[in-house]
Amino acid sequence: MGTFKVAIDGPAGAGKSTIAKAAARQLKFVYIDTGAMYRAVGLAAVREGINPNTDIKEVEALLPKVEIDISHGDKGQEIFLNGENVSKEIRMPEISVAASDVSKIPAVRQKLLGLQRSIAEKTDVIMDGRDIGTVVLPDAELKIFLTASVEERAMRRYRELCEKGIESSFDKVKRDMEYRDKNDSEREIAPLKPAEDSVIVDTTGKTLDESVEWVFNIIRESREK
Ligand code: DC
Repeated sequence: MGTFKVAIDGPAGAGKSTIAKAAARQLKFVYIDTGAMYRAVGLAAVREGINPNTDIKEVEALLPKVEIDISHGDKGQEIFLNGENVSKEIRMPEISVAASDVSKIPAVRQKLLGLQRSIAEKTDVIMDGRDIGTVVLPDAELKIFLTASVEERAMRRYRELCEKGIESSFDKVKRDMEYRDKNDSEREIAPLKPAEDSVIVDTTGKTLDESVEWVFNIIRESREK
C-alpha cells in the first residue's frame, strides 16, 4: 500500500496546526507544519536586518546560507535554523509578517518546496500550509481547506499569544492577519486558494474540539474509501 497524504490549507488562525496535530497523533501520521519553514526564513532575514517586503535581492543572497532542518519527537515538530532550535522564536508576531513577506519570493518557495516534498515521500503525512493541495502535494489522497471569519481567527490567535505571554493587542493581531490574508492570497506564485478537489471546512462558531472531530471524521471516511 502507498502512503496516505492529507493536505490542510487555509488562512492564518483557522486552526490548521492544532487540528492537524491532533489528527496526526490519533492516526499516527507525521505532522508537517510548512509555515514554520517560511517563518525560519523570515527570522533569518529579520536577524540580518533585511526587510523582506522590499529587499528581495538581499533575501535571495541570504538563502544559500540558510539551512533548515526539522525533527519530529515528543514535542511534535521542532525547527532548526543553521543548527539552532528556533521553534519558539518563529512564533513572534513580527516573524509571522516576515514569513508572509518572504513567501512571495520565488527562490524561497523553490527551496522549501523540495524539502517539503522529500519529507512527504517517505511516510503518511498531514501537511499544513497555504499551497499544499494546489502545489506541494497535488496528488494528496485528501485535501481540506480550513477557514473561519477573520474576527474569529484574530481572536483565537490573540488568546494564543496571551497564553504564551507574548504581548500584543487584538487590533494589532487582526491587522496583521488581514495583511497576511491579502499577501498570501494575492501573490503571483502558489497563492492561498482552495484546491478544486478540496473539502471546505468553515470552523466559524465551532469549538476546537468540534472542529477536530469534524476533520477527523472527514479523514476517516476518506481512508475507508
Ligand atoms: O502557517 P503560518 O501562519 O505559520 O505561515 C506563515 C506564513 O508562511 C504565511 O503567512 C504564508 C507562508 N506560507 C506559505 O506561503 N506557504 C505555506 N505552505 C505555508 C506558509
